Amino acid sequence: MPTNAPLAATNLYKHYALQGKQINVLCGASFTTSPGESVAIIGRSGSGKSTLMHLLGGLDKPDAGKVFINGQDLYKLSERKRTLLRAAQIGFVFQAYHLLPEMTIAENVILPAMALGKRSRKEMMVRAEMLLERVGLSNRLNHKPQELSGGEQQRAAIARALMNEPPLILADEPTGNLDTVTGDHVMDLLFELTRERNTVLVMVTHNPETAARCSRTLTLNDGLLV
Ligand SMILES: Nc1ncnc2c1ncn2[C@@H]1O[C@H](COP(=O)(O)OP(=O)(O)OP(=O)(O)O)[C@@H](O)[C@H]1O
Ligand SMILES: [Mg+2]
Repeated sequence: MPTNAPLAATNLYKHYALQGKQINVLCGASFTTSPGESVAIIGRSGSGKSTLMHLLGGLDKPDAGKVFINGQDLYKLSERKRTLLRAAQIGFVFQAYHLLPEMTIAENVILPAMALGKRSRKEMMVRAEMLLERVGLSNRLNHKPQELSGGEQQRAAIARALMNEPPLILADEPTGNLDTVTGDHVMDLLFELTRERNTVLVMVTHNPETAARCSRTLTLNDGLLV
């Protein structure tokens, strides 16, 4: 079933083998997105939300089932092509920011563009500065991640996710490590920046208010999305 949706998953299966025991995490999870839509993924701890996000983002192979990004069968691509598609089409925002500690904030933000290798460093830096200004960090360009607060680091991670103007943003509990006020601010920013550009946003959240702001909520339960 090839599909031209921005993101579609069909019949995803994933298990882990742990100490001789098999844990079936995903057992036929499917869903499709429409352009401009935001989808909240909820489910109890351990239900497989992060596992699903990794599969959707091309970070880990499913045992069975397919992921389509703009009609492209993600796991049919070679490793190299998948890496390029990921850099061009998907922006990731994780709970634990994942900024590289030895690089400055601006250098972290241009990383996805470096992976594509299409723009000069100068061009990339101009865009990074624009994005960091958008997220309120124009005075932190040359700081190292550990010199920033949690909320600032997550805002930098959002700027990095938007570096290549990807049509799809995957966010796994992006405000899970932040206090409520900071988290709300980061969430406002994420919604604003994705809505502006009609980007599809798929977000794992524990917060019912955040889920309510999305166009749709899917619950992961017994390995299925309902
Ligand atoms: N690398 C792994 N090896 C073995 N088991 C794993 C591995 N990664 C995840 N699991 C198991 O798979 C299940 C789903 O994990 P996952 O991280 O996807 O859950 P989650 O819904 O994101 O939970 P949380 O809300 O706590 O983040 C859990 O029971 C977990 O213990
Ligand atoms: Mg998780």
